[in-house]
Amino acid sequence: MLYQMVLFTVLLLVKIPNLHALQFCPPLGPVFSQPTNVSTEPEGIAVADELSTILDRAIGDGNFGGNPFDPTQVSFSIVFTSVNDTTEKPAFEYHHTASSSGLDLTSASKATGDSIYRIGSVSKTFIPYTLLIERGHSIFNEPVTKYIPELQELALGQENSSLNDVAQVAWKEVTIGSLASHMSGLGETFAPLDASVALPDLISKGLPKLNESEVVHCGGYEGQPPCTKDGGIYASTNDLSAFIRSILKSTLLSPEETRAWLKPLAHTSDPKFSIGAPWEIRRLSLNSTSDGRIIDLYTKDGSLMVYYSKVVLIPDFGVTLAINVAGDGAGTIIKLLSELMVSKYVPALEAIARKQTFQKFGGLYTSLETNSSIRIEVDDGPGLAITSWINNGVDVLLETVPGIWGSPLFGHPRMYPTNLQNTSNGTSSASYRVIFSLESQNDGLQIFSDACSDWGLLDVASYGKVGLDDIVFSTRDIGEVVEVELRGFRKTLQRRFDI
Ligand SMILES: *[C@@H]1O[C@H](CO)[C@@H](O)[C@H](O)[C@H]1NC(C)=O
Ligand SMILES: *[C@@H]1O[C@H](CO)[C@@H](O)[C@H](O)[C@H]1NC(C)=O
Ligand SMILES: *[C@@H]1O[C@H](CO)[C@@H](O)[C@H](O)[C@H]1NC(C)=O
Ligand SMILES: *[C@@H]1O[C@H](CO)[C@@H](O)[C@H](O)[C@H]1NC(C)=O
Ligand SMILES: *[C@@H]1O[C@H](CO)[C@@H](O)[C@H](O)[C@H]1NC(C)=O
Ligand SMILES: *[C@@H]1O[C@H](CO)[C@@H](O)[C@H](O)[C@H]1NC(C)=O
Ligand SMILES: *[C@@H]1O[C@H](CO)[C@@H](O)[C@H](O)[C@H]1NC(C)=O
Ligand SMILES: *[C@@H]1O[C@H](CO)[C@@H](O)[C@H](O)[C@H]1NC(C)=O
Repeated sequence: MLYQMVLFTVLLLVKIPNLHALQFCPPLGPVFSQPTNVSTEPEGIAVADELSTILDRAIGDGNFGGNPFDPTQVSFSIVFTSVNDTTEKPAFEYHHTASSSGLDLTSASKATGDSIYRIGSVSKTFIPYTLLIERGHSIFNEPVTKYIPELQELALGQENSSLNDVAQVAWKEVTIGSLASHMSGLGETFAPLDASVALPDLISKGLPKLNESEVVHCGGYEGQPPCTKDGGIYASTNDLSAFIRSILKSTLLSPEETRAWLKPLAHTSDPKFSIGAPWEIRRLSLNSTSDGRIIDLYTKDGSLMVYYSKVVLIPDFGVTLAINVAGDGAGTIIKLLSELMVSKYVPALEAIARKQTFQKFGGLYTSLETNSSIRIEVDDGPGLAITSWINNGVDVLLETVPGIWGSPLFGHPRMYPTNLQNTSNGTSSASYRVIFSLESQNDGLQIFSDACSDWGLLDVASYGKVGLDDIVFSTRDIGEVVEVELRGFRKTLQRRFDI
């Protein structure tokens, strides 16, 4: 009883979820095994067909979801891939070529996945990637003055300068990481957007006349030299796709380096938009998943003149999207195309993942000699639901969990993948964790509510140093999951294919 009280208090501190307010609140991240064979699953084929039809019609009508666009003036290429498909081919691709002559905006007369576009600021993803590959994450914490002697000198000169932090850049505080995430405090764009260079006659608009030392003599306008070297890369949509696939597959970085890179570094005033290095992170809040959970998209936009480019990585589903657009209205069209692709694909990916996860792991597992069994099902919620669980003749859901945690369960315990795997000698194991959500009173709080804190319950209850939520499915070299090990319970159950 003392133990129950101690654990109960710990749980109160760790937070007991208030599930009356939110039905499900799984830990952030994938709740299913990543979908595979997206291009050949019926849901994947259906969404690809639908997208082709929508795009064909938009081009035929010159109208894109209520927005007029002129298909004669714009070319675009879309490549959507799933890193877990057995084929290397995209799950979906679509290319349109501007029919107007003289619009040779891509490298080819007919747009394909290999046509080369300008990708503008999407180039900014290449620099942190190569730095991470060559030098690892620690370089992000180093000041730029370490690498650029001129800036080091400037920083020294600043020590006794009469200028203060308001009027000058504090170079010794600028790190490589702050540059990679565009949060160093440096002005976004020097000169090309300086109004004195870009716009005529601002004196009549009330601005003062500039003296000679203030006039900018670069910017690329009217024969002026550019102020900085523009680093814009030229790339085909297939190459962009290969690039972002390599990130999701951790081919050049380790999986842990990849996870560290695909994280936000700062929020913005838009709760659905955060910033990474150099990721623009969109937090999907469409009603595209049945449980309403959040899915983070790691994206990067680019634009240069009439060229617009976008990459999107969805780590939860292991999919990538690359889009290039060139021509009139490209800026609007790329937004419409990305919105269409993500809003159509996410529900299909969710359906495929749900179905495949159940096929892989669902059903009944038993150990007849010890009267132990567990039944694993899918419903509309996230992850897999445990609908019954007997261990050594004791009902785990009615007796064991409330007995340990001092509170009855709320709904079925649910299982989520940790993405940890153990593959050796032909056998592969997949690790899952069970979340035992407990009944709790609605705390009525707005600020310090514990309504969505299931993530804090992982590994909280352990037995003999192993979490009672720790579950490992194993294929035992059959290729198909045949047993589940309930590690905290020291119990292995065999999958039943006969029931
Ligand atoms: C994916 O497709 C391959 C080839 O058709 C097949 O062997 C494999 O079982 C499929 N995987 C799933 C999860 O359906
Ligand atoms: C700044 O001033 C201090 C105190 O006068 C002096 O010791 C230091 O050398 C100066 N630093 C530089 C870079 O001139
Ligand atoms: C030019 O303007 C700057 C800033 O207003 C001022 O500091 C500087 O003395 C001016 N130079 C001349 C030559 O007037
Ligand atoms: C999908 O691919 C990723 C990256 O290659 C891998 O870590 C993961 O295990 C794969 N998932 C499935 C379900 O095949
Ligand atoms: C999402 O679902 C809520 C509640 O069901 C509904 O009010 C809202 O309009 C939906 N939003 C979208 C974008 O479909
Ligand atoms: C196994 O345990 C369950 C739960 O306690 C019990 O209802 C059932 O009768 C037991 N079955 C056998 C064969 O003992
Ligand atoms: C990992 O797999 C190997 C070989 O199948 C097995 O001996 C080992 O116990 C497994 N480790 C865990 C933690 O499951
Ligand atoms: C690997 O598998 C083979 C065949 O199933 C078995 O004979 C061998 O003992 C296994 N080796 C280890 C280290 O488990």
